[in-house]
Amino acid sequence: MPFSPKRVAVFGASGAIGSAFAQECLDRYGTAKVFCFARSPERIPKHDRIESHAFSLEDLEGLQANAEAIKAVGGLDLIFVATGQLHSATAKPEKTMRSLSIASMEETLHTNTILPAMIMKHFLPLLPKHKKAVFAVISARVGSVSDNYLGGWYSYRASKAALNMLIRCAAIEMQRTHQSSVVIGVHPGTVDSDLSKPFQRNIPEGQMMRPAKSAAMLLDVISKVDQSQTGKCLAYDGTEILP
Ligand SMILES: NC(=O)c1ccc[n+]([C@@H]2O[C@H](COP(=O)([O-])OP(=O)(O)OC[C@H]3O[C@@H](n4cnc5c(N)ncnc54)[C@H](OP(=O)(O)O)[C@@H]3O)[C@@H](O)[C@H]2O)c1
Repeated sequence: MPFSPKRVAVFGASGAIGSAFAQECLDRYGTAKVFCFARSPERIPKHDRIESHAFSLEDLEGLQANAEAIKAVGGLDLIFVATGQLHSATAKPEKTMRSLSIASMEETLHTNTILPAMIMKHFLPLLPKHKKAVFAVISARVGSVSDNYLGGWYSYRASKAALNMLIRCAAIEMQRTHQSSVVIGVHPGTVDSDLSKPFQRNIPEGQMMRPAKSAAMLLDVISKVDQSQTGKCLAYDGTEILP
């Protein structure tokens, strides 16, 4: 049976890939309701099937309250986490270990690793126990240890590698109670966004995707994914990225 979620949550719905993914769900699943979360909810696109919520790691009680409220009205079939940072005013990707600093490492791990972990904790229990449901978190190919031939970007790579481990742990735990649920990491490709902007001059011609294309390909992967792939990290074309 084709995967046709009726209730979707998108975290980071103000971002390039997150907002495109929410739009793709609205277009593809005609009656689906999409719960969109962002730390700046005013940047979430407006739509009569979108319900917008603010969220942040500084307000875990609010996150838990939102999870309980959505559970009370039927739970979720698809959860997509599109939050993440590569650079900020206070944390830049490190070219060399000489640039490592506790503050910027903490900031990157806080956003890329701890934030998705807290979303897992509060939202994975909202998936149904006996029909296909998917929890997909955007990771990154650079989080693969075996694929790292260039080095650099210490904190970002480490934060995504740790995220991949959390995904694996959650997939194993969910298998005990939710045999039809799939927990995966996804790599969106190289996508035009604020996150990639400072690094775009190094991207070979033709390799950069529009957010809408990446979101559509990721939703294709999510639609086809099955239990045998839970705990893995899959690229936008469906291929597995090894740890
Ligand atoms: N673009 C690429 O080429 C590429 C490649 C590989 C992986 N990725 C991954 O794809 C994901 C989405 O990135 P994107 O390209 O769509 O970038 P983006 O447009 O900058 O979106 C990032 C999203 O994360 C949110 N966010 C960042 N820090 C946060 C925090 N501390 N608390 C709550 N929300 C926070 C942003 O919220 P605000 O709107 O409030 O800032 C925004 O919604 C990230 O995980 C990134 O690592 C991207």
